[in-house]
Amino acid sequence: MSWSDSLSRRLAERRGTSLWRNRQVHQGSDGRLLFISDSQYLNFSSNDYLGLSQHPKIIAAWQQGAEQYGVGSGGSGHVTGYTTAHHTLEQQLAEWLGYSHALLFISGYAANQGVIAALMEKDDRIIADRLSHASLMEAAMQSPAQLRRFLHNDMDSLKQYLSKECPGKTLVVTEGIFSMDGDRAPLELIMQQAKSTESWLMVDDAHGIGIHGDEGRGSCWMQNVKPEILIITFGKAFGLSGAAVLCDEQTAEYLIQYARHLIYSTSMPPAQAVALSEAVRQIRAGEALRQTLQNNIRYFRHEAQHLPFSLIDSETAIQPLIIGDNELCITLSQILRQKKVWVKGILPPTVPPESARLRITLTASHTWQDIDILLEALHDSGC
Ligand SMILES: Cc1ncc(COP(=O)(O)O)c(C=O)c1O
Repeated sequence: MSWSDSLSRRLAERRGTSLWRNRQVHQGSDGRLLFISDSQYLNFSSNDYLGLSQHPKIIAAWQQGAEQYGVGSGGSGHVTGYTTAHHTLEQQLAEWLGYSHALLFISGYAANQGVIAALMEKDDRIIADRLSHASLMEAAMQSPAQLRRFLHNDMDSLKQYLSKECPGKTLVVTEGIFSMDGDRAPLELIMQQAKSTESWLMVDDAHGIGIHGDEGRGSCWMQNVKPEILIITFGKAFGLSGAAVLCDEQTAEYLIQYARHLIYSTSMPPAQAVALSEAVRQIRAGEALRQTLQNNIRYFRHEAQHLPFSLIDSETAIQPLIIGDNELCITLSQILRQKKVWVKGILPPTVPPESARLRITLTASHTWQDIDILLEALHDSGC
């Protein structure tokens, strides 16, 4: 079969189904609004939870970094891509989060892939919450370790897997706040179980860092848990992109030696690291923004009680409205768009079968009036 025939066949299988994915070009966003062609939409699909992507001091820091270092790093961190900007940011992150070391990656996806690929060997085992992000699951599937998925946030299920013999090491994997459901992991209980079996715990706190805990230190800090491996990403509350792995000295040295995503990939631009350092400062001092976000979450949940579709029990910025049927979810998302409200429908396989949802995300940039418009649009659309 030719390449073209093979690709056509696979595209034909998907075209016309609800799994067909599209990208939408837009002309920009100010955190709260999304500008598309001549229209503006209230954006309830952004992970820019604190609105920092537009923060003047962070923008100025990026500009200053670009003037000082240029726009690119020029190589992997192992060659010439590790500048004082990268080093300073790593130290700042480690100090803030109470770890001895932080290592920067260009994305959360790369961090999860890089860490799991480097750490896991044959005879090892990964026991992951079954709703963990695709970047964790795919890394686990590709690794030589055995993968077991425990029922979502279910401690009996985790215990059962941990009680089985394993010739090698065990890594328990979960998220701090689940990206598609917005609920929290019971990290203290998970940590207890991991410790009692000499397993390590890896927590991806992409959606908790910056938002929860004292000075925005995230879900782990909030639950008084220090996992051996903490992953934070910068594409959400930080308003930028990139990621870091927090760990102890030995693990950091090991990753520097073995994590291929670090060794064979150009490091993030130094200007981005300078901007991220400013973002850390803004997050640490960002209690007012966190409070605004919490008030928005409370307001939305209170006012959304009467919608006919069920809200997941989430106290976080992620407030999914479970629709179930894929086609209905797409239709509702389109109706909202006609009302100038942007809420992306999330369909299987990104979420479990029959659980298509409108993944509403709230930010500190929204006003209660914006939330009223969202709720009215949801009511009018038949939700
Ligand atoms: C829980 C979680 N981990 C990792 C990632 C990937 O992070 P990045 O966008 O930096 O690649 C995401 C992104 O959506 C996420 O939600």
